[in-house]
Amino acid sequence: MSQTIVILGVFVADTAYRAERQPKMGETILGRSFALGPGGKGSNQSVAAAMAGGDVHFITRLGCDPFADMARATWARAGVTPEVTEDAESYTGAAYIFIEDATGNNAIIISPGAAGRISVSDVEARAELIGNAAVFVTQLEQPMAAAHRALEIARAGGAKTILNPAPAAAIAPEMLALCDYVTPNESEAEGITGLPVTSIAEAKAAAGKLLSQGVGAAIITLGENGALYHDGQQTVHVPVFSAGPVVETTGAGDAFNGGFAAALARGADPIAAVRFGCATAAISVTRPGTAPSMPTLAEVEALLARAPAALS
Ligand code: RIB
Repeated sequence: MSQTIVILGVFVADTAYRAERQPKMGETILGRSFALGPGGKGSNQSVAAAMAGGDVHFITRLGCDPFADMARATWARAGVTPEVTEDAESYTGAAYIFIEDATGNNAIIISPGAAGRISVSDVEARAELIGNAAVFVTQLEQPMAAAHRALEIARAGGAKTILNPAPAAAIAPEMLALCDYVTPNESEAEGITGLPVTSIAEAKAAAGKLLSQGVGAAIITLGENGALYHDGQQTVHVPVFSAGPVVETTGAGDAFNGGFAAALARGADPIAAVRFGCATAAISVTRPGTAPSMPTLAEVEALLARAPAALS
């Protein structure tokens, strides 16, 4: 049986500025540090899933420029198979990432460049790959129409489908109905459902609304409170794992999604896969950067072995 994971999404170069606070309009402030590295939610999730032992194919678009070289080198190191449409008429995108020095929390602006031009034709050209996948994952940084078409192909082929609805956007009910798993964080869950998500009880209510909109199961990631899984039959809260001091939370959601997909593709049940995703994220936040912070399979397994199987 196929264990292939196919991910559709965006690569961008992350330009990360660490500072005490964000500047106000018209103001210049001194930052504490700067780092340039590989990012983009789809690419980060691909790296996380491959580092966690998955056989990962990543569908995207790149320009023909030094950031595209960075993308290819990143995937080669992690063992991700690229499925790239080269787009000489555009550029490989970038993200501005503000990291608050005291907390490691972030705010992001992303300009996807070439990946913002991923089309339905790009997806249909990989229909066989998507249709034969064990697990298909996408997010919302590339055009919605491409994500929707890929979910249709994946569902028709029998793949388990995961939509990480980031950044938050209005999603057509027909598209939600194609998703076995939807994985928003608190603010994305609020954006999609219109319900507040400030507690585990509220997360459960928002998850219930997502189910009423046709998704198979909702997994709401809750930052330092772990994640809530709800599929209509079972509701399980997986508390956060402690893997060390938090350095940077950027990419934690990508670590979760990549780890979750890798575990599902290996045949784990969804709750075990959520635990695996949470452990992947817990390690990633102890390191700087996004793709470079993703742990190996051995590191995640070691953390899971040390952690009690606390579920509530
Ligand atoms: O989820 C983190 C990612 O979001 C960053 O790597 C940035 O590129 C944006 O896409």
